Amino acid sequence: MSLPKVYVSRRIQDAGLLLLNGRVEYEVWEEIGPVERGVLLEKGATADGLLVTLSDRIDEELLSRCPQLKVVGNYAVGYDNIDVKAATERGVLVTNTPDVLTNATADIAFALLLASARRVVEANEFLRSGDWVTWHPNLLLGSDVSGSTLGIVGMGKIGQAVARRAKGFDMEILYVNRSPKPEIERTLGARRVALEELLAASDFISLHCPLNEETRGLIGEEELRAMKRTAFLINTSRGPVLDQKALFKACSEGWIGGAGLDVFEKEPVPLDEPLLTLKNVTTLPHLGSATIKAREGMARKAAENVLAALEGRRPVDLVNPEAFRA
Ligand code: DGY
Repeated sequence: MSLPKVYVSRRIQDAGLLLLNGRVEYEVWEEIGPVERGVLLEKGATADGLLVTLSDRIDEELLSRCPQLKVVGNYAVGYDNIDVKAATERGVLVTNTPDVLTNATADIAFALLLASARRVVEANEFLRSGDWVTWHPNLLLGSDVSGSTLGIVGMGKIGQAVARRAKGFDMEILYVNRSPKPEIERTLGARRVALEELLAASDFISLHCPLNEETRGLIGEEELRAMKRTAFLINTSRGPVLDQKALFKACSEGWIGGAGLDVFEKEPVPLDEPLLTLKNVTTLPHLGSATIKAREGMARKAAENVLAALEGRRPVDLVNPEAFRA
């Protein structure tokens, strides 16, 4: 009997690929850059499963050209690159990789928060360019993190992990979330508030909501103007949650203190992006889950989810349970 066919759109960690050995017939896109659309369409046409990354757009057009497809395993917790509704209508299971990247992503959010507050990247460049001529009482002064107020937008698993880190810095925690999180309120003293209150009261705001039609453009000019002039905005969720043009105005005209960004509206961010000229904006190339442990966990989960679907079992990280038929 022939094995099911899986196309893997990037060379993920062996921890995941080895699980596929002998259970499916698989092929991997070996280039550093994302798989070309034409190749994905061609491979998808005969695939039973796709194991993809956030660089791959899995839309109606692609799904309609993959008649055998049973599962799309995303190697990411966010799945805004996949048209889940279209997949569900076709009975295609969609899976993601939660949990294994929670701490890594919370760490990078906190790294950006600390780096923004204490001007770490700016100071590094100052030193290396030979500008450090003397210690001075007013040299590169930053903002206190300890004892300040953190506003978390989206109190899911990553938001909660950020809140736990903030507790260690004696921060007051405010949050916005669709549903209350009583356990987090009890253990960390976090307070659920309206977005307006969070914007006005926070010294740091960290975005942890998924990208969907409700959150696209959630933070725009009006919201940035509502923030404290000294506050910093941290984004490790998805670029389009934030209006980048408005953020440039906010950071360059002093409406807010600055920003720390791991994600952008367009990735890789074009080098002529105005935000890249600002000293009060710290940027990273989408590294939230980029630790060895997290990425191995993601590879393992993505592979296990695809295998489960192809072997008729319910995948652990099923995004669209309504598409599952036992
Ligand atoms: C995710 O998992 O959604 C991250 O953005 C990439 O790891």
